[in-house]
Amino acid sequence: MAMQRSAVLVKPDGLQRGLIGEIISRFERKGLKLVGMKMTYLSDDQLSRWYVEHKDKPFFKDLKAFMKTHPVVAMAWEGIEAIPTIRKLVGSTSGREAEGGSIRGDFAMSKQHNLIHASSSEGDAEREIEIIFGKDELFNYETVLDAAIYSEKERSE
Ligand code: CMP
Repeated sequence: MAMQRSAVLVKPDGLQRGLIGEIISRFERKGLKLVGMKMTYLSDDQLSRWYVEHKDKPFFKDLKAFMKTHPVVAMAWEGIEAIPTIRKLVGSTSGREAEGGSIRGDFAMSKQHNLIHASSSEGDAEREIEIIFGKDELFNYETVLDAAIYSEKERSE
C-alpha cells in the first residue's frame, strides 16, 4: 500500500478561529504522522503556483487576497493512502455542504473561508509541499505507534 505525504494548509480563517490545535489533534488521533510544519505568510508567487488550476476562475483574485490577510500554518502529513484519507477528514469544499464529522462540516459555514486545504492527488501533494518546504524541513522518523496503527503486512507492502 502506498505511503503518501499530503500538504495541509490551515488558512487565515482557521488561525483566526483558534482551530490549529483542533485540526492537528484530529490528524494525530487518526494515526497520521506530522513530518513538516511552519507558520508563514504566502507570497503572491507562492499562491499563484499553489492555485494554478484556479487561475481563470472568477474567485481567484478574492481567494488570493484572502489567503494573504494573515499567516497560514502549513503542514505535511504522512501515512498509508494519506491523501484520500485526509480529504475525507477535511470534507467537501463548502462548509455548508460538508459532512458533519469532517473538519469543514463541524466548523465552517463558507465556501471560501473553509478553514483548510488538503492535497487532492500525489502530483498536487508533491508540488504543494515543494512550494512551502525545503528538503531539510521535512522529517523521516519512526514512532512506537506505527506498529499499532498498521498491520505488519500493511507496513511491509
Ligand atoms: P481549497 O481546497 O483550498 O481549493 C481552492 C479554494 O478556492 C477552495 O478551497 C476555497 O477556499 C476556494 N473556492 C472554491 N470555490 C469557491 C467559490 N465558488 N467561491 C469562493 N471561493 C471558492
